[in-house]
Amino acid sequence: MISNKLPKIWFGGDYNPEQWDEETWKEDIRMFTLAGINIATLNVFSWALRQPDETTYNFSDLDNHIDRLYQHGIYTCLATSTAAHPAWMAKKYPDVLRVDFYGRKRIFGGRHNSCPNSPTYRKFAEKMADKLGERYKNHPAVLIWHVSNEYGGYCYCENCARQFRTWLKQKYETLETVNQVWNTRFWGHTFYDWEEIVVPNGLSEEGEGNVSAFQGISLDYRRFQSDSLLECYKLEHHALKKHTPHIPVTTNLMGTYPELDYFKWGKAMDIVSWDNYPGIDTPVSLTAMTHDLMRGLKSGKPFMLMEQTPSQQNWQPYNALKRPGVMRLWSYQAVAHGADTVMFFQLRRSIGACEKFHGAVIEHVGHEHTRVFRETAALGKELNLLEDALIGARTNAKVAIVFDWENRWAIDLSSGPSVSLNYVNEVHRYYEALFELGIPLDMISVEQSLSNYDVVIAPVLYMVKSGFKQKVETFVKGGGAFITTFFSGIVNEHDLVTVGGYPGELRDVLGIWVEEIDALEPSRTNAMVMNSDWGYVTGEYSCSLLFDIVHVEGAKVLAEYGSEFYKGTPVVTSNDYGRGKAIYIGSSAESSFLYDLLKTICEEQQIQPVMTTPKGVEVTSRVKEGKTFLFLLNHNETEVAFKLSHTGTDLLTKEIKSGVITMEPYGVMIIEQHN
Ligand code: GLA
Ligand code: ZN
Repeated sequence: MISNKLPKIWFGGDYNPEQWDEETWKEDIRMFTLAGINIATLNVFSWALRQPDETTYNFSDLDNHIDRLYQHGIYTCLATSTAAHPAWMAKKYPDVLRVDFYGRKRIFGGRHNSCPNSPTYRKFAEKMADKLGERYKNHPAVLIWHVSNEYGGYCYCENCARQFRTWLKQKYETLETVNQVWNTRFWGHTFYDWEEIVVPNGLSEEGEGNVSAFQGISLDYRRFQSDSLLECYKLEHHALKKHTPHIPVTTNLMGTYPELDYFKWGKAMDIVSWDNYPGIDTPVSLTAMTHDLMRGLKSGKPFMLMEQTPSQQNWQPYNALKRPGVMRLWSYQAVAHGADTVMFFQLRRSIGACEKFHGAVIEHVGHEHTRVFRETAALGKELNLLEDALIGARTNAKVAIVFDWENRWAIDLSSGPSVSLNYVNEVHRYYEALFELGIPLDMISVEQSLSNYDVVIAPVLYMVKSGFKQKVETFVKGGGAFITTFFSGIVNEHDLVTVGGYPGELRDVLGIWVEEIDALEPSRTNAMVMNSDWGYVTGEYSCSLLFDIVHVEGAKVLAEYGSEFYKGTPVVTSNDYGRGKAIYIGSSAESSFLYDLLKTICEEQQIQPVMTTPKGVEVTSRVKEGKTFLFLLNHNETEVAFKLSHTGTDLLTKEIKSGVITMEPYGVMIIEQHN
């Protein structure tokens, strides 16, 4: 439980009273109460108000806001405000300003704009956290700290360059090692002095679309920038913990955001929180995957939905409204995947600047007679009735999908073999198949133990880091099913190819050798002709993108290519290894193949779906103290009827449900299973 002071699903969100007057504050309280709001995130972008100059700090308005809300039963998620530095700071200490990818020094403006290696930024940010910790350590309203906001973006300034060299010295000790792991004899890049190393940006190694001439330096720069921002987080985290060891600290993450290695971040945070902004056409399975990924950052611990819009965004090209019922449905989707909070950006819509067209609980009209307010208030009421039933409940999964940010960086940075290879999409395709099957899964890092799982899928694991090979071998020997794909096992953590044949370190366990990789425009498909001897998956499927030319070295051939000069050669193989098996899928297979294959593998491993539901009806479960809660989410615009696998009580209506049930369009049921 995040805090025993508020033992229920937290409901509220970002609130910026500093943009309003006293009359409005009163109205806010009235409307928050109507909506069942129990938590407000304050102070997210108020650094300039808190600190008008270098030595003056001003907290009196914040005191008032926290107190006023608290008097009306609303707790505070207190932000440290350090996501946007004040104008005076930028003027007086230009080192806080970033240098962009093209080497241009920024001037004041926007937000999330501070150089993470600026001594000034670090000093003042830490000090602010310290002051806030000191001031509010005993305030009963403050339940959690929200450090900065959506850390991200890279800086390429001189400070960063200097710190990068220090980071490299710590990591590699000698320049010789750097030259070796970056393979600098290529294109005559040998370094003789640390000072010769410059940042990899648009003026040096990197070009459009993330591709780098030197993956080694570019990968390390990503690691370094992710670590630098994480250092900033940690400075504030520790400053707060000194005062309030018992209050959890978080920062809001952004799902599959590319620039930060969130598995590393998860370890430093007390609880993961994240901001969920799907578009109208985002597949619901991709949102589900992202929730699971965020839950995975702390090995399955419940997380916070820190932000979502009640209605629409302002920053998409077309900002569709969430259709009636969708905000509720997507809120429960978060809970179904492990969220213990449902929070919004924001509670009242701004009147000026770029977020005036961003949805909010209270719209510009200012009263409660709006669709958005009605839907919010209805949800608030419902969540309140759930009390603490779901708080802290966990997800049990026997299947894991491996996700790795460094692997993703390395794929993106590499030139060839295909510009259309998108790591997140490929991972999602496997996720989607399991989602359709109703099989729960965990998203895990390459570091995590595999021992809790029966099936482990590592799509496009191009980079195999040291230790992973042994882990997979032990897992398969012990009876697990391991599945990986084309473009896996190619390089080590420095993006240096493992010589001796692809898929490198995974070659033994897979029992294959990949000789060549063909890359064709995505519209050009090949066939995967299933081998009927194999027994279960038969017929033909199509495949595209990359086509590995595979030789078996002990593995069985499950499917062969149907055309091209490699017609008749293996495309899907399975290797018996110890008590388990390792499957290789040598091309990007169509979805129905992934569905059929994973269904079969899960059956073999005796992994059951949570329940079988019609298309578009998502099902998950959370368990707590011997109780199982089934979440049924109807993502269809139409009513559906189907048979429930278990009798149980619907927590939202308190009705007993069994047999055939009907779900309304965008309907939700949370069934507590009867034993
Ligand atoms: C992010 C930020 C918020 C707000 C929203 C708008 O998630 O954290 O401050 O800008 O986007 O969608
Ligand atoms: Zn910098």
